[in-house]
Amino acid sequence: MDRKPFLSSESVELLPLDESDAQFLRDGVNHRQVRTNIGVRTPQMLANEQDLISSCADSDDIHLMISSEGERAGIISLELGDRVERNGEVGIWVHPDFHGKGCGTGASRLLVDYAFTELNLHRVFARTHSENEASQSIWEELGFEQEARMRDHTYQRGSFRDVLYYGILQDEWEG
Ligand SMILES: CC(C)(COP(=O)(O)OP(=O)(O)OC[C@H]1O[C@@H](n2cnc3c(N)ncnc32)[C@H](O)[C@@H]1OP(=O)(O)O)[C@@H](O)C(=O)NCCC(=O)NCCS
Repeated sequence: MDRKPFLSSESVELLPLDESDAQFLRDGVNHRQVRTNIGVRTPQMLANEQDLISSCADSDDIHLMISSEGERAGIISLELGDRVERNGEVGIWVHPDFHGKGCGTGASRLLVDYAFTELNLHRVFARTHSENEASQSIWEELGFEQEARMRDHTYQRGSFRDVLYYGILQDEWEG
C-alpha cells in the first residue's frame, strides 16, 4: 500500500481510506465473526464500501484503515457528536486473520489519543455486546469506564443481548 499513515505507532499504522480498500472492507465486514459483533444484518456490497470511502471526503467523521506490517487489518472510526458537547464514538473491526495480535488495542489507543490531544474532544465512548470480551478488553485496557448496561438491547446469534457503554473523559486520558 503506497500511502503515508495519518497516525502511527510501533505496532500499527492508521491510513486514510482509498478506493483500493473497498474489496477488503466488503469481505471483512461480511465475515461472520465481524458482522455479528457490529450489528451488520444485510450483505454488504462493493458499492456500500465505495460509498463509505467517497463519503469520507465530505465528512468530519474519521475512518481509517488499520494496517499491520504493511497489510490491511481492519478499520477504525470516530463519529463526532455535537460540537458543543464535543463527544465522539469509536467503532472498530479487525479481520479475524489478525485477531489477538494487538491491532485492536493499538489502533484504538492511537485514535482516542488523537481525539483528545488534537481534536480536543471532551468525551469518547464505545458500545459493545456484553459477550464481546475482546472488545471490552480494549476499552478497559485504555482506561474507559463501563457506564451503562442496556438490557436485551440487541438481537444477535439467536438471542437478545445486553449492550455495554464504555466511556472516558479528556482529563482521564493517560495516553
Ligand atoms: C474486538 C476486536 C476489534 C479486537 O481486535 P484485536 O486486534 O483482536 O485486539 P487485540 O489483539 O488488541 O486484543 C484485545 C484483547 O482482546 C483479546 N482477544 C483477542 N481475540 C479474542 C477472542 N477471540 N476472544 C477473547 N478475547 C480475545 C486479547 O487477548 C486482548 O485482551 P488482553 O489485553 O486482555 O490480552 C476484534 O475482535 C473484532 O474486530 N471483533 C469483531 C468486531 C467487533 O467486535 N468490533 C468491536 C465492536 S465494539
